[in-house]
Amino acid sequence: MKASERLETARLVLRRPAVKDVKTMFARYSSDPDVTRFLGWPRHQSPADTRKFIRFSDAEWHHWPAGPYLVCSRETGALLGSTGLSFETPYRAVTGYALAKDSWGHGYATEALQAMVEVARSVGVRRLYALCHTEHCASWRVLEKCGFIREGILRCHSEFPNLAPSEICDVLCYAKVLP
Ligand SMILES: CC(C)(COP(=O)(O)OP(=O)(O)OC[C@H]1O[C@@H](n2cnc3c(N)ncnc32)[C@H](O)[C@@H]1OP(=O)(O)O)[C@@H](O)C(=O)NCCC(=O)NCCS
Repeated sequence: MKASERLETARLVLRRPAVKDVKTMFARYSSDPDVTRFLGWPRHQSPADTRKFIRFSDAEWHHWPAGPYLVCSRETGALLGSTGLSFETPYRAVTGYALAKDSWGHGYATEALQAMVEVARSVGVRRLYALCHTEHCASWRVLEKCGFIREGILRCHSEFPNLAPSEICDVLCYAKVLP
């Protein structure tokens, strides 16, 4: 069963990314050092990197019930950031979120994550989880607001390529088990 490629929440539209979005994604968040600081993928150096992400996204959507989503303002249509589901098995997926700086602090990540929980539930995911840097309080606060449980620290687990120097760090593991 496939998830819907476009959904709406109170203030957001979430939709599958497309090639036409590359320039805006690059300008709004994928090239921004502050946005990408705690992300697991290297900051995009040119729109070609963002274009590569669209190919990755298309492959994810092809093979799995869902994939990445862009987060847009329902009122203006402006691109605010991205979220999505990355499947490891049909019943286990990872989620995450990244918003352009001018969109921080409005509760958008929480609203987008709640939508991802519902998408995951609708396609049969039983375990939805997320990893975040131990110092990234805003990120784990979003997870806790959405009812994710902190399961522990995975030591020396993930590379953070945008920290200088790039580091392999401990991460917090948060998960939600879906009925
Ligand atoms: C992390 C991020 C997604 C949060 O988005 P957001 O829309 O601002 O999040 P929300 O407004 O829904 O909630 C943030 C919560 O964290 C809290 N918070 C923010 N900064 C904080 C800090 N330094 N310490 C503690 N809490 C903090 C906010 O007060 C809010 O909690 P509250 O509602 O109880 O007041 C956003 O900052 C971002 O995109 N960062 C860059 C990308 C990134 O790092 N993604 C996560 C990778 S794991």
